[in-house]
Amino acid sequence: MRIKTGINGLDELIEGGFPEKSTILVSGTPGTGKTLFCLQYIYKGLELGESGIYITLEEKPEELRREAKRFSWNLKKYEDRKKLVILDASARVGLPPTEKYFVEDLDIEDLLNKIYDICLEIKAKRLVLDSLPPLFDKEENIRSKIHKIGRILNEISCTSIIVSETRDENRFSRFGIEEFIARGLIMLNLEEIESRLRMRECRRSIFIRKMRETKHKVRRYPFYIGENGINIDVKGELL
Ligand SMILES: Nc1ncnc2c1ncn2[C@@H]1O[C@H](COP(=O)(O)OP(=O)(O)O)[C@@H](O)[C@H]1O
Ligand SMILES: [Mg+2]
Repeated sequence: MRIKTGINGLDELIEGGFPEKSTILVSGTPGTGKTLFCLQYIYKGLELGESGIYITLEEKPEELRREAKRFSWNLKKYEDRKKLVILDASARVGLPPTEKYFVEDLDIEDLLNKIYDICLEIKAKRLVLDSLPPLFDKEENIRSKIHKIGRILNEISCTSIIVSETRDENRFSRFGIEEFIARGLIMLNLEEIESRLRMRECRRSIFIRKMRETKHKVRRYPFYIGENGINIDVKGELL
């Protein structure tokens, strides 16, 4: 079974979508479109009747709702119907909570328990964890924490995306371990190129580095962000 990604062009590159119940790691440097990718994945699922949980560690839920609205994706509508939960783990120390679903600090056990409960409550089919690095501020036991996350994700029957922000584009992940709990690895890139007029331009691309149970090409495809979100140019050439 395949889970439609909702990213225009991506499904045809990976045999129709993500393998059901798998965990996919999406990595890239800041501003490469990771959060947008996740929002699009969650929203398109909602449109297909698949409920979802979005765990946000970097942006406040209100920011995500606003961002989604720019693409005409109305998250609130699905939150009201209990089809979507945005779990606020953006850890605003000392501030009173403004969200129905939140965690006060980033204790990994608490967070995972909460995720587990919410997934049961709304029968979530899709999960997004955006992103991992804030969970490992203390640089302690990172390996065992990541494996714990992997075990929980295996247990709940969601198809999950975990996000890892890298500092340079040659690395797959921040900690070098995340890829081991993921059955798929997608890298987003933003690179500077020299155009014909010798002007500096930036170009976005997507690279499917690993996708178990899937025949896929190992190459970069250009993508652009339009009014309807991310669009991959599946015939695009990248030199
Ligand atoms: N409507 C839009 N049209 C074109 N580009 C956009 C639009 N909205 C956002 N972007 C681009 O997407 C980037 C944000 O991507 P985001 O998903 O937040 O990145 P990341 O999570 O990887 O840091 C912005 O920096 C901007 O360049
Ligand atoms: Mg982001």
